[in-house]
Amino acid sequence: MEFQGISGKFTEANAEALAVVVFKGEKAGSGLLKDLDALVGGSIAAVFKSEDFKGDKGQTALLRFSPKGKVKARSLMLLGVGEKADYTLPEVAAASGCATRYLRTRNHKNFAFLPRHEGNSTAIAQASAQGFVTSQFELDKYRTKDKKDKIVSKLVVCIDGAKPADLNKGLERGKAVGDSMNLTRDLANEPPNILTPTEMANRAAKMAKETGLKCEILDEAKMIKLGMGSLMSVSIGSEQPAKLIVLRYTPAKSTAKKGEMLALVGKGITFDTGGISLKPGEGMDAMKYDMSGGATVIGTMRAIALLKPTVPVLGVIAAVENMPDGKASRPSDVVTAMTGKTIEILNTDAEGRLILADAVAYAEKQGATRIVDMATLTGAVIVALGDQNTGIMGNDQGLVDEIIEFGKENGEGFWQLPLSKEYSKQIKSDIADIKNIGPRGKAGTIMGAVFIQEFVDKAKWAHLDIAGTAWSDSAKPHQSKGPTGVAIRTLLTLVEKSQ
Ligand code: BES
Ligand code: ZN
Ligand code: ZN
Repeated sequence: MEFQGISGKFTEANAEALAVVVFKGEKAGSGLLKDLDALVGGSIAAVFKSEDFKGDKGQTALLRFSPKGKVKARSLMLLGVGEKADYTLPEVAAASGCATRYLRTRNHKNFAFLPRHEGNSTAIAQASAQGFVTSQFELDKYRTKDKKDKIVSKLVVCIDGAKPADLNKGLERGKAVGDSMNLTRDLANEPPNILTPTEMANRAAKMAKETGLKCEILDEAKMIKLGMGSLMSVSIGSEQPAKLIVLRYTPAKSTAKKGEMLALVGKGITFDTGGISLKPGEGMDAMKYDMSGGATVIGTMRAIALLKPTVPVLGVIAAVENMPDGKASRPSDVVTAMTGKTIEILNTDAEGRLILADAVAYAEKQGATRIVDMATLTGAVIVALGDQNTGIMGNDQGLVDEIIEFGKENGEGFWQLPLSKEYSKQIKSDIADIKNIGPRGKAGTIMGAVFIQEFVDKAKWAHLDIAGTAWSDSAKPHQSKGPTGVAIRTLLTLVEKSQ
């Protein structure tokens, strides 16, 4: 994919189409739209008059430039974005993506985009490029025909008066973020016979090699030696060996306070059958995305490697398959986690917390002082929040508040659920220290979080339950259906704001 930034006249851009953002309530007869209207023989005024197009969010119109005119482009796309006051940077990304997908179906290979946002040029260029890249991700990787091939290969972003260096920096950053989101989405979309824990580790190692991250893969022997009995209790029923993937980003020159380190920890269940507490067959196929938390860590670490913030970041991904088998864990088994805590497994389908218990403890042992874990942990979070908000919980209100705030900046909703000693009491076991489920039908998402909390010692910690937000059941104008890459942009802001 190719990117170009221009700060001169939009109408002189060398592209097949010009895509211009239009706000609700704008008049065709004044300002920029008036000038453009003259070039399309009054068609803008005509579509406004017919009320076919009013600048509502998601509305589009494709008009033709006269072949004899002086504009190089053949078409003018109007992109409604709604009220100007609501037109934030993530909306710029969505508008760019919407234009890309629309023009792709109309056989355009490139277009010039006029975002018309009044903020920082680098940030606008970044959002435009990221939206362009993520909008072209498709689910049909394994089709041999009727593929929606990526065909819009070049984006020209026009920002009046922007410095070329700012524009180029933004485009480069947007490409890095967009490609990293697509890596996460590709991993989440992979079938579980292909993306085994070993393959997930191989993909992470390949990414690390390409981007200069350090990568260490812990095998089962190493995990057993470390005492990771909780993680291993999930893996034991699978033919596929578990892998603990450890990615390290170390800045050339750190501005972090001495001893401070952020860790991102992800649930990487490459397939969740439920184990002996077997899930019903219907809908079980969806459980290939149960490694989305781990995939999010891999994508975020890739972007970090490319954006080069000045703080160290550790990525830990527990890649495990949850299968029923003669060797599989039984409900009522008791296991000992790396921290020494004993766990009574009462439901083998509550496996995400079992692998995260050892993964967060490992992150803290490696020196993490702040931990953000992410996981498709509970069906209950889908009941509570649907697909619009990620559930967030934690032991440090400052960290939780930061993630919620940075989420807003990135158009990603995070909604906090409470934790308390009273909730923690509900996972006390009769025969061991704790059990892996709470009372039936009560606060399922919180029960998952209080369980993980038991394995965090001094670190500030936040837990993101992305079960409802990591996968979209329907296509959007700017995004295909399927894996969303949720939380990556927010986490990148968290990292960059800690510099
Ligand atoms: N991976 C699932 C959570 C999930 C369920 C994600 C549905 C997306 C859609 C998790 O491992 C699980 O099975 N959780 C159980 C926990 C229960 C046994 C306490 C759940 O949510 O039902
Ligand atoms: Zn499960
Ligand atoms: Zn699961």
